Amino acid sequence: MDDSTFLIVGANGQLGQALQAKYPQAQTMSATELDITDFSVLESFNWQPITTVVNAAGFTNVDGAETAEGRLAAWAVNATGAANLAKIAAARNITLVHISTDYVFDGTQDMHTESEAFSPLSVYGASKAAGDIAVALHTNHYILRTSWVIGEGKNFVRTMLGLGQKSISPTVVADQVGRLTFTSELVKAIDHLLVTKAAFGTYNVSNAGDPISWADITRVIFEEAGFMQLSVADTTTAEYFVGKEGVAPRPLKSTLDLSKIQNTGFTSTDWRVDLKTYVAKELAQ
Ligand SMILES: NC(=O)c1ccc[n+]([C@@H]2O[C@H](COP(=O)([O-])OP(=O)(O)OC[C@H]3O[C@@H](n4cnc5c(N)ncnc54)[C@H](OP(=O)(O)O)[C@@H]3O)[C@@H](O)[C@H]2O)c1
Repeated sequence: MDDSTFLIVGANGQLGQALQAKYPQAQTMSATELDITDFSVLESFNWQPITTVVNAAGFTNVDGAETAEGRLAAWAVNATGAANLAKIAAARNITLVHISTDYVFDGTQDMHTESEAFSPLSVYGASKAAGDIAVALHTNHYILRTSWVIGEGKNFVRTMLGLGQKSISPTVVADQVGRLTFTSELVKAIDHLLVTKAAFGTYNVSNAGDPISWADITRVIFEEAGFMQLSVADTTTAEYFVGKEGVAPRPLKSTLDLSKIQNTGFTSTDWRVDLKTYVAKELAQ
């Protein structure tokens, strides 16, 4: 595939970095180079060579979005920014690839399908749902709805490895259940949809494998890392956040039904396989 006609926005985030590795010829823009919240900035960009935009930009600080300032920023990037890109893409017949989240749901369903109605609990979730609605107005779109993203950046696996390396036995929530999504899996899915020219629309993408709680994932991380002397204690989301101000409500059930993308010929990788590789790489550094 000719990636020289690709544009990656939000290119320095976890997903953005993985996309840069996959598409080395693509134009890449950081938040300061191309601010998607400013339509006049987008309008003055040279879109002529671009056939595909991958929007890896996002305001992803879920708790930060609950503050007065964060609420503005989350809506600007996740909703207005996405709408701005959709408007540009629609006017220029550009394919827009956008990333959504299970946080657009309240997490009461055991398994989320692409057709579930929006029911966000948090400001972040609401702003992402608004972005999804805007992007879907442009026919040539792929929305990849994902969960629990792990890549090059601040993420849960790195946090737990950091605690383990300091010999800290953590207490971790055991009532939020889902599956990890390594950025390699997201990139593989984006590439699959583009290469196979799959029907436009929304596709769930996470790693495959057994749905599991954050506490049990931590146990797997510690096992892989050889932190045998440490233990992981269970807590509930409610207990964990007691007395903490400004914490966003989170869906308890985050597992995504992967059958739609798998029915297009996509093979999902088990999260345990990617986690093993990720932990080994982190420890080797
Ligand atoms: N992380 C998760 O667990 C998770 C779960 C489900 C879905 N998602 C979605 O997946 C996508 C990628 O997530 P990620 O984890 O890769 O996020 P990330 O690491 O936080 O990266 C987001 C990037 O967006 C950039 N950005 C922020 N405001 C921007 C703006 N106005 N214009 C252009 N770029 C801007 C940021 O730049 P600065 O760093 O310079 O601010 C950052 O490089 C997002 O849409 C997110 O909502 C993430």
